[in-house]
Amino acid sequence: MPQVIGVPKETAADEKRLATVPEVVEKLIKLGFKVAVQSGAGDAANFSDDTYRAAGAEIVEGAAKLWAQSDIVFKVRGPSAEEVALMRQGGTLVSFIWPAQNPELMKSLAAKKATVLAIDSLPRMLSRAQKMDALTSMAGISGYRAVIEAANAFGRFFAGQVTAAGKIPPAKVFVAGAGVAGLAAIGTAVGLGAIARANDTRSEVADQVKSMGGEFVKVDYEEEGSGGGGYAKVMSEGFQKAQREMYAKQAKEVDIIITTALIPGKPAPRLITADMVKSMNPGSVIVDMAAEQGGNCELTEPGKAVVKHGVTIIGYTDLPSRLAKQSSTLYATNLFRLTEELCKTKDGVINVNMDDDAIRGLTVIKEGNITWPPPAPKLPAAPPAAAAKPAAAPPAPKAAHGHGGASAPASAKSAAIIFLVGAALFWFIGANAPAEFLAHFTVFVLACFVGYMVIWNVTPALHTPLMSVTNAISSIIAIGALVQVAPPLAGGGERPEVWIIGLAVVSIALVAINMFGGFAVTQRMLEMFRK
Ligand code: NAI
Repeated sequence: MPQVIGVPKETAADEKRLATVPEVVEKLIKLGFKVAVQSGAGDAANFSDDTYRAAGAEIVEGAAKLWAQSDIVFKVRGPSAEEVALMRQGGTLVSFIWPAQNPELMKSLAAKKATVLAIDSLPRMLSRAQKMDALTSMAGISGYRAVIEAANAFGRFFAGQVTAAGKIPPAKVFVAGAGVAGLAAIGTAVGLGAIARANDTRSEVADQVKSMGGEFVKVDYEEEGSGGGGYAKVMSEGFQKAQREMYAKQAKEVDIIITTALIPGKPAPRLITADMVKSMNPGSVIVDMAAEQGGNCELTEPGKAVVKHGVTIIGYTDLPSRLAKQSSTLYATNLFRLTEELCKTKDGVINVNMDDDAIRGLTVIKEGNITWPPPAPKLPAAPPAAAAKPAAAPPAPKAAHGHGGASAPASAKSAAIIFLVGAALFWFIGANAPAEFLAHFTVFVLACFVGYMVIWNVTPALHTPLMSVTNAISSIIAIGALVQVAPPLAGGGERPEVWIIGLAVVSIALVAINMFGGFAVTQRMLEMFRK
């Protein structure tokens, strides 16, 4: 029996997002699920009931009915007490939960014998998990929107202009904290023509800031701020003092400050003091993205835009919801990628596999048992663990077998058949072909193998991966053709026939077009990104 994925209307005040979009409904149905969407759930994000219906979803009137008929509920914000009450006993919930901050919610969900996947608890350092990383997708949108909000409140152009009436300097934007949201803000500000500067306690982000077109401003104090896992650590008093001095200088110079500085689980560091706000030019704007965690600016009022000392301070805590269509689409895609991982058998039934690192990290409650926090992740650094993995791999398909894991044995079977057919073919050629052909054939097979190894090991340093591969193939052809064209070495064999030399010359000409053309195309692509 396929399971029903239910998507209710979000109940939090001013929340315009929802957890799926029509385009993703179709994909969920292809995975074998039934999808039910509460009537009106997508209205605020500009997705009408009809578009969901057209995509194959059932439209259900009222939250009570929707929750009652859903085996799995997809949500954006953690459920309210009323929603938990509506939830089915033993149901599954996929949503933002923030388990550390919401122990009561965790208890009430556990009492429902629920299985809860908290999208905020995804182990982000697993590269496999990136496609499901809703924190990143939402932070990217928020960084963009922060700049748009700033532009809206700012009384001038972002880009510098030379007009008949005079020269307008470009706006200067300073970004405090260059994580996901900060980098998106830098990219957006640069895109609008502003000068963007940024600071972060983690020195490794300096290159990322530069690659987004920004300038990294260092604190004049030697201390590394990386606390592991891509997050920062709390800095020493000495560093904080030096940082405040630098920020005070920036506040006097720039027009817009966007702050995103945060260490998960800690109150937001106070980086912008009331005095710094006072020192800014009237009409300047501060967007404090960390408002919900207490704010990076002393004068921020969470959820509001206020004007203090002539500076607009924006502390909105719903930036992704202000771009509801975009953020719903990205969030829905993150959840779809997660569903793919949960339902590898594509039969519309999920399997919460606790042996999978990503799924283990996300699962904060399993069938009523609180499984949060997860055990410390196994780091790939330890070589013995890496060596143990291949040995442990073979039983895995068997373990999955109980849940329709038939595809793995099937692919092993087809590989064996291909191998046997290939072996029989080689035997047939070996037994029947003339010896001369066999010698050439052996060289050909070995050349294919070496060529494959050479080509797939090319690092795409100068080109896109596709172009690197085609250029590697071209290079091999060029070498082969040059060998044919070159005069034989002293005492070496005969010169190839004229038509072979002719073909070789044509090959060299053709691959030259591909190789030099590749460089020209790359050059043009790079030009597109240069300002
Ligand atoms: P992130 O963890 O990727 O970035 C935070 C950055 O701040 C890190 O690069 C970290 O090194 C840096 N940092 C920490 N302490 C610092 C300090 N004392 N000085 C300078 N840099 C420091 O987080 P992400 O995903 O970029 O989110 C950024 C902020 O935006 C968070 O506060 C998050 O809660 C908030 N956010 C707000 C939304 C809204 O609607 N207002 C929506 C989404 C995210």
